[in-house]
Amino acid sequence: MKKILIKDGTLVTASETVKNDLLIEGEKISAIGKLNVPDAEVIEANGLLIMPGGLDPHVHLDLPMFDTVSSDDHYTGGKAAAFGGTTTVIDFIPQPDEGSFQITLDEWKQKAEKASIDYGFHMNVTRMDKDVLKEIPSLAIEGITTLKMFTAYNGRLRLDDENMFRVMRVAAEHGMLPLVHCENGDVIEVLVEEALQAGHTEPVWHARTRPSWGAADSILRTAMLAKQAEAPVYIVHLNTRVGLDQVRYARANGVKLMAETCPPYLFFTEEHLARPDGAKWICSPPMRSEEDNRALWTGLEDGSIQTMGTDHCPFFYDGTTPIEYEGEKVAIPGKELGKDDFTKIPNGTPGVGDRMPVLWTSGVVSGRISPNEFVALTSTNAARIFGLYPRKGSLMPGADADIVVWNPCKKVEYGAAIAQHRTDYNLYEGMELQGFPDMVFLRGNLIVEKQQWLGKRGMGQFLKRSPGAEVL
Ligand code: URP
Ligand code: ZN
Ligand code: ZN
Repeated sequence: MKKILIKDGTLVTASETVKNDLLIEGEKISAIGKLNVPDAEVIEANGLLIMPGGLDPHVHLDLPMFDTVSSDDHYTGGKAAAFGGTTTVIDFIPQPDEGSFQITLDEWKQKAEKASIDYGFHMNVTRMDKDVLKEIPSLAIEGITTLKMFTAYNGRLRLDDENMFRVMRVAAEHGMLPLVHCENGDVIEVLVEEALQAGHTEPVWHARTRPSWGAADSILRTAMLAKQAEAPVYIVHLNTRVGLDQVRYARANGVKLMAETCPPYLFFTEEHLARPDGAKWICSPPMRSEEDNRALWTGLEDGSIQTMGTDHCPFFYDGTTPIEYEGEKVAIPGKELGKDDFTKIPNGTPGVGDRMPVLWTSGVVSGRISPNEFVALTSTNAARIFGLYPRKGSLMPGADADIVVWNPCKKVEYGAAIAQHRTDYNLYEGMELQGFPDMVFLRGNLIVEKQQWLGKRGMGQFLKRSPGAEVL
């Protein structure tokens, strides 16, 4: 069995920082300590940080929506993730329009055969009847222990309170975790109709028709439903101060509620949507204000927010002009589909590869969070919440050897040319980053070395997750 000894690295986990050696044997971490292993390949890591591979719990790969498809698939999205230090992603499966969950589950299993890093699945629950409710526990047996519901997208994805409550109760009974996309769908319907009638078609109207208060009201209502269902609940893509206030209120009052935010909500505002290229920033819920950016940082600093996902759902800005990807020309219809109507702009932004380098620079280098908090937010907390710990998110002997050798001194002028997303733009174009992966291992295989891709199509494994995971 192949042995790799990483010597004299500084091991950074969610709880401690220790200078030590780490031995990989095959796919696993086998020992940590002052080690002498004559038959091992040695990597000198003095001055470098050794961290668990990142876990991004929120990505949308190869997802048909808005008359197109998200432009990263399970190969390209995993590759992009790995360049930024992430070795596991959890992708969302849409519920089929009719029939059993098994239909889209089989479809997604097939799509993911080309996955380049390890992956799990969440299942969307966007339609309800007795058969659907009865089938939910079988998902847990398949290792899909998380169910996403929406309080927006009326008539398409939204479940009403009655059905959310039903799903939450079944989830709680079977150790599953409901995830909720919180916005007020009713208010959005009215505001969108009025905006279009008034001839407002520009991207900024996407934000103006989805007020922050709708997210806040939806988070509070979701929290109260979860409490009544005696279920834990996880709020995806938290974007506002008033939403964070509801998260804090719920947690302080004994609701088992956890929250994720995503990097763009820490950096960008509605002003970005008002730019001529504002469509690049369109996702739901939208970017808000600088006050919201600052508030979310406080939520990360004080532990009110447990995870940093990305909601990676990339589209081309100009899907009529091909980019070169692995030697081939690729163009996929994107944001231009909504050039005359903001409601037709595909909702979503790229970000799976940006997450760790951007958070390191703006969080750790700036002194807002410690390196240990960085590991907790980008890897360990999600592994715990989503039933993958300690196999993922840890540096313990026996864990998968998903390891990032992180160079805290490396400076990079970031942008689309460095990020490996399969799209034609990057939200952080021109940002000066400090701290970047030198090497990334997936289960003992070196998949990225100094910005070179060494991974392969199909080397990612499906992660069957266990029910009854932790509530943080
Ligand atoms: O705009 C977004 N976020 N697109 C992806 C779907 C979702 O709601 O997470
Ligand atoms: Zn969502
Ligand atoms: Zn999403």
